[in-house]
Amino acid sequence: MIHLENVSKVYPNGTEALSNISLDIEQGEFVFIVGPSGAGKSTFLKLLIHEEKASFGKIKVNGYDMMKIKNRKVPYLRRTMGIVFQDFRLIDKMTVFDNIAFAMRAIGAPEKIIKKRVAHVVSLVGLEGKEKCRPNELSGGEQQRVSLARALVNKPEMIIADEPTGNIDPKMSFEIMKKLVEINSRGTTIIVVTHEHELVREFGGRIIIINGGMIERDEKIPTKYHPPESSVSDFEEVIS
Ligand SMILES: Nc1ncnc2c1ncn2[C@@H]1O[C@H](COP(=O)(O)OP(=O)(O)O)[C@@H](O)[C@H]1O
Ligand SMILES: [Mg+2]
Repeated sequence: MIHLENVSKVYPNGTEALSNISLDIEQGEFVFIVGPSGAGKSTFLKLLIHEEKASFGKIKVNGYDMMKIKNRKVPYLRRTMGIVFQDFRLIDKMTVFDNIAFAMRAIGAPEKIIKKRVAHVVSLVGLEGKEKCRPNELSGGEQQRVSLARALVNKPEMIIADEPTGNIDPKMSFEIMKKLVEINSRGTTIIVVTHEHELVREFGGRIIIINGGMIERDEKIPTKYHPPESSVSDFEEVIS
């Protein structure tokens, strides 16, 4: 699923953002990546989605060799993952509905299915009634939730989220994390970068601490939130 071997990333200005990282993440894992600002967390995610290329080492993601992947194959890699960017990356001219539908239209999904799934993910993130708004008519937290909905809509095998609760109040953060745990419980791999230690303690699971570009700790603590059966099957039904 994800395999990194002695990976380093040196940016063109000489900053070594990651040094000699090795780790594996299996299908179905729920992983928190934590660490202080500037630790290399976003760089780590950027290597996984091939937004940046590693300077040294081996990286494999969902069957793709990231050191050899051709540019024309990158869209196929990205279709295996739902990505929540730290800076949202919504399209300003499009409505909330169209921003979310965009990824499904790109793969030629029928409009009827698109409507159904978009409605479902919109309600998952609590944005009912905002479908016709444009991003500049939303708060930061609402934009973040649109970006999460967009990541979920194609039922990816993996979700990669960079500070997905960074602009959201604690109660909503907790609700969003619960949704991610529910989605994880039907097999989707989830990788969440956060600096919110409280949230991590609250949920448990695998926690990788990155500091100064290195893995400081990689541990599993007991999972504390177990989603109710019904919420999982609800999701399954509408989304499949
Ligand atoms: N494009 C870039 N060019 C040069 N240095 C960068 C670039 N992006 C990030 N960095 C540097 O790499 C280090 C890690 O950054 P980043 O991965 O964004 O950390 P985090 O997400 O943990 O806050 C920081 O020192 C940052 O300044
Ligand atoms: Mg970051």
